[in-house]
Amino acid sequence: MTLQYKFPEGFWWGSATSATQIEGAAGEGGKGKNIWDHWYETEPNRFFDGVGPESTSDFYHRYKDDIQLMKGIGHNTFRLSISWSRLIPGGRGEVNQEAVKFYNNVIDELLANGIEPFVNLYHFDMPFELQEEGGWESRAVVDAYEAYAKEAFRLFGDRVTKWFTFNEPIVPVEGGYLYDFHYPNVVDGRRAVQVAYHTMIAHAKAVEAFRTFDINNGKIGIILNLTPSYPRSQHPADLKASRMADLFFNRSFLDPAVLGEYPEELIEVLREHSQLPVTEKGDRELIKANTADILGVNYYQPRRVKAKEHLPNPYGPFMPDWFFDNYEMPGRKMNQYRGWEIYEKGIYDIMINLKENYGNIESFISENGMGVQDEDRFLKDGEIQDDYRIDFIREHLKWLHKSIQEGCNTKGYHLWTTMDNWSWMNAYKNRYGFFSVDVETKERTPKKSAHWIKEVSENNGF
Ligand code: BG6
Repeated sequence: MTLQYKFPEGFWWGSATSATQIEGAAGEGGKGKNIWDHWYETEPNRFFDGVGPESTSDFYHRYKDDIQLMKGIGHNTFRLSISWSRLIPGGRGEVNQEAVKFYNNVIDELLANGIEPFVNLYHFDMPFELQEEGGWESRAVVDAYEAYAKEAFRLFGDRVTKWFTFNEPIVPVEGGYLYDFHYPNVVDGRRAVQVAYHTMIAHAKAVEAFRTFDINNGKIGIILNLTPSYPRSQHPADLKASRMADLFFNRSFLDPAVLGEYPEELIEVLREHSQLPVTEKGDRELIKANTADILGVNYYQPRRVKAKEHLPNPYGPFMPDWFFDNYEMPGRKMNQYRGWEIYEKGIYDIMINLKENYGNIESFISENGMGVQDEDRFLKDGEIQDDYRIDFIREHLKWLHKSIQEGCNTKGYHLWTTMDNWSWMNAYKNRYGFFSVDVETKERTPKKSAHWIKEVSENNGF
């Protein structure tokens, strides 16, 4: 068969998940509480249909079957995260042996089925006790994270070679400290900056620790949600708006993680508005010396911006949005369910940017996907006919393929997500998986896209 879009040998086909969103068993196996367990206990009304993280998709009990499903659709790689509060209840101190057994089983089962595990250490899920100590605002929590990371490398580093320190570290900053969609629901620019900074220090410390372990061919990196910022026009004010959005939402983590330093312009603007974080001696060198080996790129939507229409309220909390307005481009293609624009070329623009400005770091698409509400509407003959998802993936893959042809160092594509999972405040509202999940029985059923991706993965193209 001649393929129009053939991917390089060994291309990583797979999907991504996170512990809190798939494991369930929140009160089982000795797991401690994380901020999601706590928030749901105290404010269940904040979650779609009042559904919380207690049982989610029950991967904790069903991982063997789920790994067979992955294998069946041609996965050669799979991303999971370790739940910090499961491995070390309370966040520091004794390791929970039941958790060690669980993660060992998952890792071994994946490997036995020819699927390489990519392991992420933190996906929005701070142990509750550490949040009570101040979460990422506290430098002591950074130390606890470093100890946790070391423990994970020691326990699983004999078999896991691809490690990630954080998934989308900007999201807890936005959700928890600016825009009120994650616990602890603080709205405070300065505290947000401190949280972002400490997350970066935690990342650098984990990278530094990783290098003291003898992990054969081991690579460590970070997963960032990169949202290219497109200006409304070429007017200098629009261009400046897009540069500012890029600084706050992309370069705030991308530059220190890959280049080893923060953009001067970001430091300047924070200084001007008295928002600089508290730092310690040696931090600059730590960040410089511990850049990522590999970068995961989560891409869902672009960011379109324009110059501000009105001056911000000078008495309101400091916000990145003081420097730009969001722009609704007429004629944009929307995923109306999630309210996100679909712009496939964005994936190519990101990769070209990484090639030209970030040393062409080894990367892969670590998340891309389409969340759709009420997917049962598309049920026919017992299967969800998700042609929209197939189109979505195919069109993104075409642009990714073009970027590879032009020399970008892109190694794989992971869909968000394997089977429908629990999405934070949205719970099971929008479905993203190759497999649908019956929330009551937890039964998995392949969607049309599952059959399609099997063929694409097995042919290494389409
Ligand atoms: C990414 C996250 O932001 O997007 C996932 O890494 C998340 O955790 C996914 O579930 C989809 O977004 P949402 O908000 O629809 O769940």
